[in-house]
Amino acid sequence: LVASMEQVDQTYIMIKPDGVQRGLVGEIISRFEKKGFLLKGLKLFECTKELAEEHYKDLREKPFFPKLIDYITSGPVVCMAWEGVGVVASARKLIGATNPLQAEPGTIRGDLAIQTGSFSEVVFALGLLKPCKESHSYGKLSCRNVVHGSDSPENGLREIELWFKEGELCQWTQIQAPWLR
Ligand code: TYD
Repeated sequence: LVASMEQVDQTYIMIKPDGVQRGLVGEIISRFEKKGFLLKGLKLFECTKELAEEHYKDLREKPFFPKLIDYITSGPVVCMAWEGVGVVASARKLIGATNPLQAEPGTIRGDLAIQTGSFSEVVFALGLLKPCKESHSYGKLSCRNVVHGSDSPENGLREIELWFKEGELCQWTQIQAPWLR
């Protein structure tokens, strides 16, 4: 009864190019399905630099911004819209901390984001080499953290509108049927 009075929200979840390259798409979708959220939109997509910049516009002034845009546009991403009560906060919990090194085990980033993007980045992290221009930043560590999740219900709606065109979302609900049990 309490839950039914809470608001149904939508969140934009995106499997980033490293998640697609590493074959983690099924595993990540499965975590949201198992949690009981409703999938309202899903597509594999190669995004333009302009779209990536618009998505991350609040981070424009950050030193890592150009590397972040290179990373997000480096290959196809999987765009998803998920719906449910408290889905924004819940998805952030499922995803875990931004920095894969700090993400708890049990979270998507904690379990699946490798600590660094490549062997050479381990070497950079140990301070043995200078980072090359391909390395993404957390200081010297990679920001390849597998997945994105909106940080507020407002941004959830903004991002779903940004990444999906009209007609790409399905407004379905879960039916009650004997074969579902
Ligand atoms: P942010 O919105 O702060 O984190 P989150 O993805 O957890 O909502 O940052 C967006 C992305 O920018 C983040 O997923 C990875 C990248 N990033 C860096 O490369 N370096 C950084 O120091 C931070 C904070 C983020």
